[in-house]
Amino acid sequence: MPPLSPRKFIIGNWKMNGLSASLVEARAIAQHATQCPQVDVALCPPVSLLATVHRVAPNLRLGGQECHQEQSGAYTGCISAAMLADAGAQFVLIGHSERRQYFGEDEKLLTAKITAARAAGLDVILCVGEPQAVREAGQEIPYVLAQLAVIASIAPESCARLTIAYEPIWAIGTGLTAGYAQITIMHRAIRGALRECYGVQGDALRILYGGSVTAENAAVILKCGDVDGALVGGASLSAATFLPIIDSA
Ligand code: PGA
Repeated sequence: MPPLSPRKFIIGNWKMNGLSASLVEARAIAQHATQCPQVDVALCPPVSLLATVHRVAPNLRLGGQECHQEQSGAYTGCISAAMLADAGAQFVLIGHSERRQYFGEDEKLLTAKITAARAAGLDVILCVGEPQAVREAGQEIPYVLAQLAVIASIAPESCARLTIAYEPIWAIGTGLTAGYAQITIMHRAIRGALRECYGVQGDALRILYGGSVTAENAAVILKCGDVDGALVGGASLSAATFLPIIDSA
């Protein structure tokens, strides 16, 4: 069964990029988004720009790139889910491979972060994806399905607030993208896991692809089976490279 929400979801993840001068890009993206009501467009700016982007582009859907698992407290340098929501975020990325790799985020921590995000009213974009060695060993499906086990912490009543982003690590920032068959097979497996967890409601959840998505390859990627949008890093940093991706959705 096709997803119940036919609109593609295109998210730009600026990672640790963007100063005040980048607000001009955010404004251009927001303006374009209003002209593309058939696509859900969102941006995850660095937290330093979140509230300002929300102020200058109030119609643009915004997300945080990560959140702490506690609501508040003595955690110097950290951002809570409630702070993200207060700054204008509607969702948060959880489990991006860079967080898993550089900050040692494991299943237990990610489960706590998902709970914190939900408690603050944020939607969750759960990122999953295998490293190159796992794919070479032919183990990518069990690996990704094991990463998906954390969704058990989201009850079926609130699963509509969940989106999955499949981002093979070997494709992030490398210029390599997974092929049509690789993407379709993985997204079908993820769809199966969502269905197993949530029944028919799992069919309505969106599964995004990420990893070197560009204006050149977006149209083909977005046509792959069970691909409901894209999580875009490098190509989302400027309107010139991001708007054509929105247009191909
Ligand atoms: P990329 O990043 O588009 O630069 O490969 C994607 C991501 O990490 O979300």
